[in-house]
Amino acid sequence: MRTIIEPFRIKTVEPIRMTGREERRAILARADYNLFALQSDDVLIDLLTDSGTGAMSSNQWSGIMRGDESYAGSPSFARFETAVKGITGFEYVIPTHQGRAAERILFATLCKSGDTVPNNTHFDTTRANVEFTGARALDLVIPEGRQPQTQHPFKGNMDIGALEALIDQQGREKIPLIMLTVTNNSGGGQPVSMENIRAVSQLARSRDIPFYLDACRFAENAYFIKLREDGYGHKSAREIAQEMFSYADGCTMSAKKDGLANIGGFLCANDPALVQQQKELLILTEGFTTYGGLAGRDLEAIAVGLDEVLHEDYLNYRLASTRYLGEHIASAGVPIVQPPGGHAIYIDAQAMLPHIPPAQFPGQALVCELYLAGGIRSVEIGSVMFGRRDPDTGEETPADMELVRLALPRRVYTQSHIDYVVEVIQDVQQHKDDLQGLAITYQTPYLRHFTAKFAQLDSV
Ligand code: F0G
Repeated sequence: MRTIIEPFRIKTVEPIRMTGREERRAILARADYNLFALQSDDVLIDLLTDSGTGAMSSNQWSGIMRGDESYAGSPSFARFETAVKGITGFEYVIPTHQGRAAERILFATLCKSGDTVPNNTHFDTTRANVEFTGARALDLVIPEGRQPQTQHPFKGNMDIGALEALIDQQGREKIPLIMLTVTNNSGGGQPVSMENIRAVSQLARSRDIPFYLDACRFAENAYFIKLREDGYGHKSAREIAQEMFSYADGCTMSAKKDGLANIGGFLCANDPALVQQQKELLILTEGFTTYGGLAGRDLEAIAVGLDEVLHEDYLNYRLASTRYLGEHIASAGVPIVQPPGGHAIYIDAQAMLPHIPPAQFPGQALVCELYLAGGIRSVEIGSVMFGRRDPDTGEETPADMELVRLALPRRVYTQSHIDYVVEVIQDVQQHKDDLQGLAITYQTPYLRHFTAKFAQLDSV
């Protein structure tokens, strides 16, 4: 059969509140043109993030009922730990309330001022947590990973030559760890090849530098390897994931993505002395070592989710449905990061709106228009998120790319929802030359995109 169907039936539904363009115009102005400030019932199709927004299965809901809420030594923790170890193979598993809590503990125990942490591309919370320790977060993705239209099967790969040059130049003692983000979210949801993971690992081991995976979307990455890399077509997604983790010394994970859970995360490592320090920090801010800021029922949902996410019917459907959205808007002439990533489609807002310069945030202009036109909530991944403002001069350094991300929640929307999204984007494409830029009227020094306020340029 050519049609790949959703490999599930729907047992519970959530109504969507319909809105019209004029109503949305007022809502958008009240939100100061920042879609993080919207109420979600004012959104028709919410593609803000694939994080924590997935639908759980009946087996996960059964796990929720089984959850044991004992403060210490809960059997739910034992099931969670077994599930994590079964895939990652790491010695120690530290539960956290979400990915960034794992990041904070990891970087707090490894980094100091003056250090550099290389990654293919740091996600925004990862970068912020590295910088919070005084260290520098450096992105070393291959050059193709910075070119939206260039086709490459593994655009998330690390530039091994650049990584080696960095280690030679800085010295090993200034590089407390090397990270690889699978898939590379900020670079377009692009996968990293097994060959590249192995090469980073070999280099890290030869220089005695710990190597960690930011594993939020490890299952999608594993399935891309199965589909695209020689020698992996006959292996199961689980075997491929296990091999990916086998090259690393630890990982951080947001279970809100490929854990198929609404909340949760973990930190894994093999080094007992380091883990001891990390557990002390965990107890200080997250909770005891067998729950780490989560309820027992959350641990159960993650344990089941980690198994379900590796089902190949699911992964096949998942990557096919993302590709469906990408191919349909690309064939209407909308420039997207090619090829489509695993969890999201990224529109190249700069290529689509060349008349809006980076300083006027073309991505944010497009995000606002998609909401006005169709009630779709997307997110800017460009100069609002990654641009830098000099606190003294007010001068803006733009981001490398001006992207808009359409992230697909797992198992939530059907194909007709996606057909609607395609139609809205095609309509916006018809009148794209009328879109105007925005100015920031309020911002914070860190992670400004969450709370920034904007004004339309024709109104300032
Ligand atoms: N690393 C990556 C690659 C991520 O995509 C995220 C979250 C995190 C770490 C942090 O995990 O949210 O559980 O604390 N990404 C979400 C997103 C928020 O929308 O892409 P968290």
